[in-house]
Amino acid sequence: MEPTLGRVLIVVPTYNERGNLPMITGRLRAALPEADILIADDNSPDGTGEAADAIAAEDPQVHVLHRPGKQGLGAAYIAGFRWGLSHGYDVLVQIDADGSHQPEELPRLLEALSQGADLAIGSRYVVGGEVVNWPWSREFLSRGGNIYTRIMLGLPIRDATAGFRAYRAATLEKIGLDDVQSQGYCFQVDLTLRTIRNGLRVREVPITFVERTVGASKMNRAIMAEALWRIAAWGVTGLPARFRRNRH
Ligand code: GDD
Ligand code: MN
Repeated sequence: MEPTLGRVLIVVPTYNERGNLPMITGRLRAALPEADILIADDNSPDGTGEAADAIAAEDPQVHVLHRPGKQGLGAAYIAGFRWGLSHGYDVLVQIDADGSHQPEELPRLLEALSQGADLAIGSRYVVGGEVVNWPWSREFLSRGGNIYTRIMLGLPIRDATAGFRAYRAATLEKIGLDDVQSQGYCFQVDLTLRTIRNGLRVREVPITFVERTVGASKMNRAIMAEALWRIAAWGVTGLPARFRRNRH
């Protein structure tokens, strides 16, 4: 038997995902009946928050965190992780609400944790990973972002911007969430870097990423700009350590 991982909380950030919510919660509950779900909604104008409340009223394993307004993906995850840590969960999962990440692949991420990883990343860019239905421009941006990240930070990770992950609670406690400033999607890179700089083990598990069919992406220029400058700044602060490593 596999060593038990304990209680799992799946954090699902939402902004205008009303059309996707029943799909993602239904598939998550079917794929991992034991795990609890926390929907972290930023007061979506389309009524996602109310729809989430209705699902939670029917299912004691679904919870909702209402946030006052759109504060970014990173901020929503930090609030969700804090909620999970204070409620005693042992594993915290990240997944997009739009169906791009397959709940049915989550057991393989959790397996990587039970085999000893401190962070399991669902990766599009390792052997066996795949991207389906993304326009070439978007895939170019994502692959370019990962190359930029690898050059700036020297991380041994193929998909550092991936948004489908499982963290041990102990990992989040060790890396510390209090001084995370990333608001947008660079939050993903931020936590990957912190995990590695803390000497913890990261495993990439191949996944199939499928572009959404309902609703729209929230990616924009401000999110890209934040990622560009923050990653450059982390690269500079990490340089002394990289030089020391290379000398041995
Ligand atoms: N609460 C909250 N607040 N949720 C948000 C916000 C926000 O400000 N911005 C985005 N989200 C939610 C969306 O509702 C969705 O559930 C999830 O975050 C991902 O957002 P998308 O807008 O669908 O992301 P994407 O498809 O463009 O980007 C994908 O690729 C990125 C780069 O590789 C995702 O996989 C990202 O996680 C990934 O970083
Ligand atoms: Mn998406």
